Amino acid sequence: MRVLGISGSLRRDSHNTKLLRAAGEIVEQHGGQFEIFDGLKAIPPYDEDDDIGYGPQPVVRLKQAIARADAVLFATPEYNSSVPGVLKNAVDWASRPAAASPLRNKPVAVIGASTGMFGAVWAQAELRKVLGATGARVLEVELAVGHAHEHLDDAGHPLDPAEAEALRDSVATLTAELQPLDMAV
Ligand SMILES: Cc1cc2nc3c(=O)[nH]c(=O)nc-3n(C[C@H](O)[C@H](O)[C@H](O)COP(=O)(O)O)c2cc1C
Repeated sequence: MRVLGISGSLRRDSHNTKLLRAAGEIVEQHGGQFEIFDGLKAIPPYDEDDDIGYGPQPVVRLKQAIARADAVLFATPEYNSSVPGVLKNAVDWASRPAAASPLRNKPVAVIGASTGMFGAVWAQAELRKVLGATGARVLEVELAVGHAHEHLDDAGHPLDPAEAEALRDSVATLTAELQPLDMAV
């Protein structure tokens, strides 16, 4: 079972990237493999004129990473009550052409953290909507870490027991979803 993590933040010390790393540790405890996609910054702005053949190389890398994964876990911050542009842009690239998109039928889950009170709930909701539009199978997973600078340790582990449990539950939902697929092969 391979899970790809995609953080919506490019920031070196991103709370969302750290939260993904903490999620990755749990995936590995469940016997899965976890990697974080590190090429988001290289993805150019979406331009339909450039969306020919396999598309630009950074986009090929993204699509291949999604295609190789059995599931994708997104962790998104919230920028002005919505999804950061770089993440929306990457999803737009990955969604085309619709019939061949690696997101189609892919189990995906969304979690998030912000330094505001509400833990990027609006950005998460919008990202779920966008992913649903791509044909991804959006799992019902909930984790919104507010005041992330206080609620996560340096390695991204939630300090609040309820949030730590929600992270474990989120990963459990994702990995449980994959068990039947694993058993079918
Ligand atoms: C352009 C911008 C807009 C932001 N808008 C929001 C917002 O609407 N809601 C919120 O909770 N935090 C907002 N923030 C604060 C982010 O939650 C904070 O920068 C957070 O640490 C970003 O996630 P990261 O640590 O993963 O980079 C905003 C930050 C930036 C840079």
